[in-house]
Amino acid sequence: MDKKAKKKVLQMIPYGAYVVGTKTPEGTDHLMFGTWLMQTSFKPALVAFALSEDSRTLANVRRSKRFAVSFLASGMKGVAESIVDGSFAKVKTERTPSGLPVVAGGAGWIDCQVLDILDKGDHRIGLAEVVDVGSGPGKLMPLDELKWHYGG
Ligand SMILES: Cc1cc2nc3c(=O)[nH]c(=O)nc-3n(C[C@H](O)[C@H](O)[C@H](O)COP(=O)(O)O)c2cc1C
Repeated sequence: MDKKAKKKVLQMIPYGAYVVGTKTPEGTDHLMFGTWLMQTSFKPALVAFALSEDSRTLANVRRSKRFAVSFLASGMKGVAESIVDGSFAKVKTERTPSGLPVVAGGAGWIDCQVLDILDKGDHRIGLAEVVDVGSGPGKLMPLDELKWHYGG
């Protein structure tokens, strides 16, 4: 396979800017910037999020079977940078009714109950049912707006 072409073509897949919110074993809030999210079913409403095999987020998800996804709104570059830096204190959060952390002022959030984890590849697919949702102002920030890439 042509490695350059593989990277170029796979990076054409459109992604958004999301924040995965989980709880640590101690019950504290944990945030991770991520982008590999897709819907996989209408009824029930299912989504799949690919989570890095060595991430704390995946460990939290395996244990709690829950995660929330915040949809960052266009213009929230500072929030994305703070989360990638691990500067969570700079990020204003709220809680879903189930207690998971979501980013305040985002375009929306979903609260997800994990049904299965597919243990293939260096990211593990968390298949989850959307059990609650919140809608905010603005539109989802496309990953392109940040000029960041994940994929290839
Ligand atoms: C642009 C971008 C997109 C990313 N997308 C994902 C993703 O979809 N899934 C994932 O597991 N990690 C993704 N990451 C990497 C995680 O943010 C990174 O591994 C993080 O340190 C894991 O955090 P944790 O160990 O605290 O959970 C992405 C990073 C960047 C910069």
